[in-house]
Amino acid sequence: MSNNFIVENNFLSEELQYKETVFTMGNGYLGTRGTFEEGYPNENAATLVNGVFDDIPIVYTELVNAPNWIQLTVFIEGERFRMDRGKVLEYRRKLNLKNGVLSRHIRWQSPAGHTVDIVFERFASMAQEHVLAVRCQVTPVDFSGQVVIQAGLPGHVDNDGWLHWKFLDQGQMPEGAFIEVQTKKTAHMLVEACSLRTDDAMAVYAYQDCHWCPTLVASSELALGQTLTADKLVTIYTSRDVESPRQTAIEALQEVQAQGYEALREANTAAWAEVWEASNIVIEGDAAADLALRYSLFQLLIAAPRHDDRVSIPAKSLSGFGYRGHAFWDTEIFMLPFFIYTQPETARRLLLYRYHTLGGARRKAQAEGYEGAMYAWESAGTGDETTPKWVPLPNGELIRIWCGDIELHISADIAYSVLLHWQVTGDDAFMRDYGAEIILETARFWGSRAEWVADLDRYEISDVIGPDEYHDHVDNNAYTNEMARWNLRAALDVLEWLETSAPDKLAQLITALDLTSERLAHWEVVINKLYVGYNPETRLFEQFDGFFKRKGVDLADYEPRTESMQALLGVEGAQEYQVLKQPDVLMLLYLHEADYDQATLQANWDYYTPRTDLSYGSSLGPAIQAALAARMQDLEAAYHHFIHAARTDLQDVRGNTSDGIHAATNGGLWQAVIFGFAGLRFTGAGPVVNPRLPEGWTRLKFRVCHRGRWYDFDLSATQ
Ligand code: BGC
Repeated sequence: MSNNFIVENNFLSEELQYKETVFTMGNGYLGTRGTFEEGYPNENAATLVNGVFDDIPIVYTELVNAPNWIQLTVFIEGERFRMDRGKVLEYRRKLNLKNGVLSRHIRWQSPAGHTVDIVFERFASMAQEHVLAVRCQVTPVDFSGQVVIQAGLPGHVDNDGWLHWKFLDQGQMPEGAFIEVQTKKTAHMLVEACSLRTDDAMAVYAYQDCHWCPTLVASSELALGQTLTADKLVTIYTSRDVESPRQTAIEALQEVQAQGYEALREANTAAWAEVWEASNIVIEGDAAADLALRYSLFQLLIAAPRHDDRVSIPAKSLSGFGYRGHAFWDTEIFMLPFFIYTQPETARRLLLYRYHTLGGARRKAQAEGYEGAMYAWESAGTGDETTPKWVPLPNGELIRIWCGDIELHISADIAYSVLLHWQVTGDDAFMRDYGAEIILETARFWGSRAEWVADLDRYEISDVIGPDEYHDHVDNNAYTNEMARWNLRAALDVLEWLETSAPDKLAQLITALDLTSERLAHWEVVINKLYVGYNPETRLFEQFDGFFKRKGVDLADYEPRTESMQALLGVEGAQEYQVLKQPDVLMLLYLHEADYDQATLQANWDYYTPRTDLSYGSSLGPAIQAALAARMQDLEAAYHHFIHAARTDLQDVRGNTSDGIHAATNGGLWQAVIFGFAGLRFTGAGPVVNPRLPEGWTRLKFRVCHRGRWYDFDLSATQ
């Protein structure tokens, strides 16, 4: 890997919050935003431990901001180091994508005129996910004197003003301190324990028992040019992980202390090397694309659970408060392929999350009067629906959000990804024990949801929202109906497979899910008679009934713009127009490539692309649009969409990076490269590529795992 660093050479306070997201680091267990160790009043510090949800009004539940383990304050001859006082003479921040280590070098002159070099470094260990570390090195440049380091565990941290924690205990232990807190409603306990050591044999240590913030202090007298190295080691456990988080965290801290910072860092680097061995992609000839892509994969890797199969990846990963840590179809349709092909064990865990949350999906179906499993549009700990019904617009007006009620396609999307996982990994045991039930339960939902329209002799699905959320309460959304049909067909296929491969399991599922022959016959009828608006002459799918009759729009008329078309036309106004938030029909064609010919793709591309708000609609769109454009050999359009998507967070192109990483975009970028530019397909004869590399790309190198076997690709451009 050549291009491994995200670097920032200036500290600009106006970029503070978006850069906090960009410099998020983590290890799949937790994510910590790129705030500074010394803390600032306008910062948005957050550490999100996946799965630690607590209740809150309106949005039901959210991931809870954990005690701020990175906190470390430096005092130079009594003056507190902070970059908004005194003078910052040199500044450089670096995120090392190779091993997840975030570092910062500052030369600072205190208001009293003492100049110091300070180097911070921190990581969340990829080798031991409960282990975190901060190193701080201080060197007096033009004085000799006292340097004091304070390292605390502040537990009084909130989510945008909402305090989820109840204080349980804190205290001192040999060479360390701990804090124990508990979420108010869900009663998850969380303990952080930390130690502080320096390399100065003469340093004086103390413990300050500040309520909510147990703090360790180390004080040293430094000579001019002498470097003090202080290491804060932290362990973190919750009652989701172990029975007694306090005891485990304290014991683990002792072990970690015995290893020391350097050894921990080495183990972390080694663990990362293994991860990258499977997941890295190298692009030569386009350094910006190479780095942006690696950054995207890094963000996916630090958000993905490595040991927990009861959590998913939130839409904003573990990097911000946006969408409150809820998971959407973003995980299955956009991110999962990356994991299926490069980290299959992680993919399996992510799908197990959907298996474990079948209970919530069944409750939702039942509450709505349907059968089977109707997955939550926004899902958290239990799988019950957590989409807020109302959200305030920036002007304070409340708008009704219908996605939790009628954005149904997620159930089929999840079934789709279960089948994809099976095809790619060949993991029959997973399909037999878990996957089949997901596909059958979602099929039962569709079977009960499809409405028979006798006059027209067909089934319909009315009153839904498709992927294009600019239009709600629409009938016969092509994406939804085709995915429902696909889901029913997949269920019948899986039943056939179980018949020969796992008859006992089949018998069990037939009884448990009431899979009578009448029900299966009904599925066949729905498959054959589910209506979709498609014109064989034009080859166009109508996105939903009456879409073609909505008002036309030329997006060019609104340029230049800095807002979404929905913001410009209004929530109600946008409904009247043929303007899309994100690909909808095209998404269908993308997912079912083998079922549609090039002419159909071209016709729908030509129709829908100019009507799609790719710059300010959903961030999910551009990467998929890039993959499709590459498939159609339109490399200019493909690269344009690809690079737009690749800049989403690094350049804050949508202005909302401060809310968190756009994780679906990251997954979409991987797909654009692998399925778009490399043109990877698996045929009966094995993997085949059909490369169409953007101009300037001289080499594209990646690996994928198919049915347990790794395939290495090293594609070069012939100029
Ligand atoms: C998009 C959805 C997406 C959600 C979470 C919305 O703006 O329209 O497709 O699932 O964001 O990323």
